[in-house]
Amino acid sequence: MRYYLAPLEGVTTHIFRRVYHTCFPSMDKYFTPFFSPHSKRGFTAKEEAEILPENHRGMRLIPQILTNQAEGFLQTAEKLAYYGYDEVNLNLGCPSKTVVSKGRGSGFLAYPDELDRFLDEVFKGAKVRISIKTRIGKDDPGEFPRLLEIYNQYPLEELIIHPRLQTDYYKNVPDLDAFEEAVRKSRNPLCYNGDIRTVQDAEGIAARFPLAPACMIGRGMIANPGLLCEIRGTGAADRDAVRKFHDLLYEEYRRVNMGDRNVLFKMKEIWSYLGALFPGCEKQLKRIRKAEKADRYEEAVKECFDQRQE
Ligand SMILES: Cc1cc2nc3c(=O)[nH]c(=O)nc-3n(C[C@H](O)[C@H](O)[C@H](O)COP(=O)(O)O)c2cc1C
Repeated sequence: MRYYLAPLEGVTTHIFRRVYHTCFPSMDKYFTPFFSPHSKRGFTAKEEAEILPENHRGMRLIPQILTNQAEGFLQTAEKLAYYGYDEVNLNLGCPSKTVVSKGRGSGFLAYPDELDRFLDEVFKGAKVRISIKTRIGKDDPGEFPRLLEIYNQYPLEELIIHPRLQTDYYKNVPDLDAFEEAVRKSRNPLCYNGDIRTVQDAEGIAARFPLAPACMIGRGMIANPGLLCEIRGTGAADRDAVRKFHDLLYEEYRRVNMGDRNVLFKMKEIWSYLGALFPGCEKQLKRIRKAEKADRYEEAVKECFDQRQE
C-alpha cells in the first residue's frame, strides 16, 4: 500500500511538508492545498513557495488545482509544468460554502454534464498527467454511479475518493460501501481517503480493499506524525521524535518572518490535532491555546513534553 499526505489548506504548508519529511519516513506523495487559477502571468510569492522544487527536495509533490474552468486549469497546469511538475490534481472535494456556491470543489459534482465537458476539454489540452480528488456526491450517494461513469471515460493518473458528501463536510462516517462500488467499477487506479487515525484504521482499509493501491491520510498524520512508522511496523514515534518535529516546525515558521502572532496561530492549529498525543495534559494544552506570547507558548509546550512519559 502506498501512503500519501493529504492537503490541508493552512496546515500542510510547504514548511509542514518539509519538516515532516525531514523528521519522519517519507510519504509516497505529498499534495499541495489547492491553487485557484488567476490571470497573473506567474504565481504570487506565497503560491510559488508552495511549489518551489528547492522547498521539496526528495519529495514527490503533486500540486492541486481548484476550478470549474478548463482554460484556467490548463493555464495553471502549464505554469506548474514550467517548475517541472508532470502531474496535477483536480480538487472535486472541497465542501466549503464559498467554493461550493461557485460550482467548484464538491459543488461541481452537482453538475455532472458540465463536469464531463470540463474533463473532456482538459484531457484534450493537458500535457501533464491528471488525478482527481473527489467526494461521492453533493447531496446524495445516488449521485456517485454517474460520477464514476464520467471518471471512467478519462485516463486518470488516479482517482482519490473521500467517500463523504459535500453536505457531510467532515461529519458522519465515510461511506465504505460507496468506495467498494468504486473498487468494482473504476477503470482508474484508486486511492482511499478518510478518517484513518490509527494502525487499525489503516489495516482495516487495506484488508477490505486489497485492490486499492493507495491511501491518503490527513488529520491522522497531523495528530500523530509517527503514524506511518506505526503502519509500516517500525514503531511509534517517541517523545523525542515528536519534540524534534515540533521544534523544527516552530523554528521554520519563525524563520519566515511572519510575526509572532501568525507563528502562534499556525502552531496552535497544529496542536488542535497533535494534542491527542498528550492525554492528561489538558491544562497545558489549554495554556497553549491561550498563549499570546512566544515565551508563554514555549513554557506550556515544554510542560506538555515533560509530562508525556515516553
Ligand atoms: C482544515 C482542512 C483543510 C483542507 N484543505 C484541503 C485542500 O486544500 N484540498 C483538498 O483536496 N482537501 C482539503 N481538505 C480535505 C483533506 O485533504 C482530507 O480529504 C480530509 O481531511 C479527510 O481525510 P482525513 O480524515 O485523513 O483528514 C482539508 C481538510 C481540512 C480539515
